[in-house]
Amino acid sequence: MSTLQTPQETYPFESYRELDSAELTRRIQAVRDAMGEELLILGHHYQQDEVIALSDLRGDSYQLSKLAAEHTQCRTIVFCGVHFMAETADIVANRPERLADRDGRRIPVILPDLAAGCSMADMADIEQVEDCWEELGEVLDMDRVVPVTYINSAASLKAFCGQHGGIVCTSSNARAVLEWAFARGDRVFFFPDQHLGRNTAMGMGIPLDAMPVWDPFAEELGGNSPDAIENSRVILWKGWCSVHQMFRPEHVEMFRQRDPEIRILVHPECPREVFELADVSGSTNKIIQTIEEAPPGSHWAIGTELHLVNRLKQKHPDKEIHFLSPVVCMCATMYRIDLPHLCWSLENLAAGTPVNVVEVDDETARWARIAIERMLEVR
Ligand code: 13P
Ligand code: SF4
Repeated sequence: MSTLQTPQETYPFESYRELDSAELTRRIQAVRDAMGEELLILGHHYQQDEVIALSDLRGDSYQLSKLAAEHTQCRTIVFCGVHFMAETADIVANRPERLADRDGRRIPVILPDLAAGCSMADMADIEQVEDCWEELGEVLDMDRVVPVTYINSAASLKAFCGQHGGIVCTSSNARAVLEWAFARGDRVFFFPDQHLGRNTAMGMGIPLDAMPVWDPFAEELGGNSPDAIENSRVILWKGWCSVHQMFRPEHVEMFRQRDPEIRILVHPECPREVFELADVSGSTNKIIQTIEEAPPGSHWAIGTELHLVNRLKQKHPDKEIHFLSPVVCMCATMYRIDLPHLCWSLENLAAGTPVNVVEVDDETARWARIAIERMLEVR
């Protein structure tokens, strides 16, 4: 299980709420200047503009795990993202070879606000996944089932995959990971995002009726018949992203009717009906790249988190960029990382009383690392 250490802080959070953005930015910059290369601030693309502007490196989930694994100069990582990302960074930055290189010194990974979780990751917990695995074993030969967890999951689920011959995937390598899994088994057990699993598997030619959805709250076999499980190729978990499920096929139709030149660009966490109508899909990084490479004057409607879409709009005034949904879809938990929390966590770090250190226990980290390293090798 992950442990969260909260030592006595030098500066309490309350006083930071009253400071304005200019003052907070100046003080954050002062800590960055004083710590230099010893401090690495990582920022996920969904972060607010004023936070992303203060991060040293930005990326999608895959890139950020790689950056945390490869960086050798820093002594602390501050992760402007969500909890599962900080856990992954802790696991890879403090792997045994790296600890040995540093004479056992850990790199603490700080999440400026511990309430920055991921509602999708919370839709599968280890007890539910273990119960499911056991129940599936009444119908299937589990030696031929490969568990795959989306990186948006707790470290304990990554450890489960490590222990059972499985692997982690991100939105940027899901297809390569599924191919890896099918080279080792007949079936994939995919959690927690049903949409990423379904969209990826359909792209590989796996029919919908070979993808039953496991509802962890259903009475028996996740709400499926034994036949449906026996005939499955991919068993999907009933999880979803509350942000991406807001994009609907009628939004795509509306844009297409209004503008025949519009191109639809979506994240693969969108429901299948939207994903299938899109012209291009991919991780947050692929979305950024697609817009960067698009010709001036091209028209786009983008189905992903609002902060990223707004940033793309500002950065590319020569292209017409729209948010795909008429309703505001922003990730409320990513948004929790703001200047007051970033400043508070950095000043406490500089004072020698780090707060909000996310640390995964050794046993969980050991198994989770196996599944994460498999993923990093597949790409
Ligand atoms: P990316 O891996 O594409 O950055 O996505 C992470 C995420 O949480 C999307 O909702
Ligand atoms: Fe989780 Fe969705 Fe937010 Fe991504 S956008 S962190 S999947 S809740």
